[in-house]
Amino acid sequence: MSDLLRVEELKVNYDSSNGRVYALRGVSFNVKRGEIVGIIGETGSGKTTICHAVMGLIGKKADISGKILFKGRNVSTLAEEDLRKLYSREIALLPQNIASLNPFIKIGTHIKETLKACSNIKGARSLKKKALDLLTTFQFSDSKLAYRSFPFQLSGGMNQRALMAITFCCSPSLVIADEPTKGLDLGLKDTFLETMDRLKGDRNISMLIVTHDLEVVEKVCDRIAVIYDGLFVETGKAGDVMSTPLHPYTRSLIQALPKNGMCPTWGFAPSSFENNDGCSFQPRCPVGKRLKKKHVVPSSVMVGKDHLVWCCDVKG
Ligand SMILES: Nc1ncnc2c1ncn2[C@@H]1O[C@H](COP(=O)(O)OP(=O)(O)OP(=O)(O)O)[C@@H](O)[C@H]1O
Ligand code: SF4
Ligand SMILES: [Mg+2]
Repeated sequence: MSDLLRVEELKVNYDSSNGRVYALRGVSFNVKRGEIVGIIGETGSGKTTICHAVMGLIGKKADISGKILFKGRNVSTLAEEDLRKLYSREIALLPQNIASLNPFIKIGTHIKETLKACSNIKGARSLKKKALDLLTTFQFSDSKLAYRSFPFQLSGGMNQRALMAITFCCSPSLVIADEPTKGLDLGLKDTFLETMDRLKGDRNISMLIVTHDLEVVEKVCDRIAVIYDGLFVETGKAGDVMSTPLHPYTRSLIQALPKNGMCPTWGFAPSSFENNDGCSFQPRCPVGKRLKKKHVVPSSVMVGKDHLVWCCDVKG
């Protein structure tokens, strides 16, 4: 499979009133066609910054370096018109929560307005037909009723599916989802997981999902990258990383799952104001905290096919 998205050595520093924030310190990854890649990490680790960088949303007050290639083209060299097409037709953002739906606009109008902006479909009848088809695809048994409903007339689960219908309506090549299950109750989360499961079966979708929810990456993603303090610490096939986690941070995330006894990770996340050249996880690491000197993170260690770990204690 060829690369749809390729990110190379992405670094982002924000200048804030409290000083320089080292949000991303050199991450590289790819998303192949038809693949769902998950990035998992705790708060402040740089997940949203990755999404913003790929969506071209990093503000002028930040320094950004590295390469973002979409279908082989370096995004930073694209002309304004090509960028507009890229972000309206090729890459779509799945909004984080159902509050993104305008309560005064009917679901059908939400979909039609998006289709007008990002597809070649013209004419009221064709737009309505496409909107109804989409609602059927996203499991609305009565698509006509959903089409003429305001968001407040639908359940949370229906609004969740309507949001997904809007995001996928222009058949984007890549969908980016930033914490798609954050703040959802269990029922809504199940709706999301079921819809993703069906989409994976029916369409050849490519997605980048960033989340702190291990259940989402385990159930939905093909490959995952675990991020800590702006750097990847472990990457690989979701099944391999979940069944054989090798970095102490990945292990601690998995041990914190309810099914594994809910043992929380000891200590606090590091400050993003420090450009730490040693291992940022050392103060929390069972091996590293016994050491007197700083553990410097080695280059990646290959522990299996596509399974990489950045840790001195792991041998290839
Ligand atoms: N615009 C900004 N200006 C200054 N600092 C920022 C800005 N945006 C993010 N940061 C900082 O960059 C670091 C990474 O933030 P980011 O939002 O990418 O993390 P995250 O992994 O998405 O966290 P969360 O799980 O809480 O959403 C944090 O320390 C954050 O405070
Ligand atoms: S590099 Fe050293 S301190 Fe860091 S996680 Fe690995 S063993 Fe622990
Ligand atoms: Mg975030």
